[in-house]
Amino acid sequence: MAERVNRLNDLTPREWIRFQKSWFIHNPPPREPGVLVHPGKFPEGLAREFIEFFTKRGQSVLDPMAGTGSALVAAVRSGRQALGIELNPDFARLAEQRVQAERLALGDQAPQARVHVADARQLDQLELPPVDYCLTSPPYWDMLRQPGFETQRQRREDGLPTTYSDDPRDLANIADYARFLDELVAIYVKLHACLRPGAYLTVVVKNVKKGKRMYPLAWDLGRRLGETYLLKDERLWLQDNVRLAPYGMFNAWVSNTHHHYCLNFRRE
Ligand SMILES: C[S@@+](CC[C@H](N)C(=O)[O-])C[C@H]1O[C@@H](n2cnc3c(N)ncnc32)[C@H](O)[C@@H]1O
Repeated sequence: MAERVNRLNDLTPREWIRFQKSWFIHNPPPREPGVLVHPGKFPEGLAREFIEFFTKRGQSVLDPMAGTGSALVAAVRSGRQALGIELNPDFARLAEQRVQAERLALGDQAPQARVHVADARQLDQLELPPVDYCLTSPPYWDMLRQPGFETQRQRREDGLPTTYSDDPRDLANIADYARFLDELVAIYVKLHACLRPGAYLTVVVKNVKKGKRMYPLAWDLGRRLGETYLLKDERLWLQDNVRLAPYGMFNAWVSNTHHHYCLNFRRE
């Protein structure tokens, strides 16, 4: 029987099928001290699994809200070219340093990597080369500014920043949910033109709670971006090492939300 050609990635059938499960548990390892300044990064190990599924070695990966550069570091580690955009110059510098350290360790074989300090709303002005995969995570609306947010209390005590910036262009500083959603969707719609036909976009995101109400950010993004991209599905990222808090106990239903949606879209 003729061997089937793998057009998407370099995985074996066993590795491929393992990724197909619609949920996975990933407990982030303790953060390295250098990246603690950033209030909301995703783990490089998680990013690497997505990158190695949605690209082949030598292809390119973009994160238009790169933060500490986790997706870019994971891309370089797995032999992919890395492109990032980040609004906050301090985070962009950190991302650039981390990515260049990875490249240095790889020597002559290192893939190309670059971080642009820019507003992702203007990504069409950066003359980016065609991209093979985009892996990204937006601010979860303005949740970092919510006083009751559990992790924020700890960061304040540790003297760490609790927000991304005070820059009005920072999407996390938009208090109105509808405006935040519109601006975020506009960025991902612009991104469509940068992706090669057939390329995937993965957005790691959560539904968020404010006051007594849930704002279905993940579901809203699925529906809105499904008008531009083909919405393929979600993979649920579950964390099972987070301490439970007795929110609303004996009074009202308030969940401990320890899962994120990894929404997968395709440029047809
Ligand atoms: C959830 S964090 C991304 C974290 C990143 N995935 C990591 O692992 O480090 C969202 C990032 O979006 C950035 N950001 C917010 N508004 C932006 C904008 N208009 N353009 C570019 N980046 C923006 C924030 O500074 C923040 O670093």
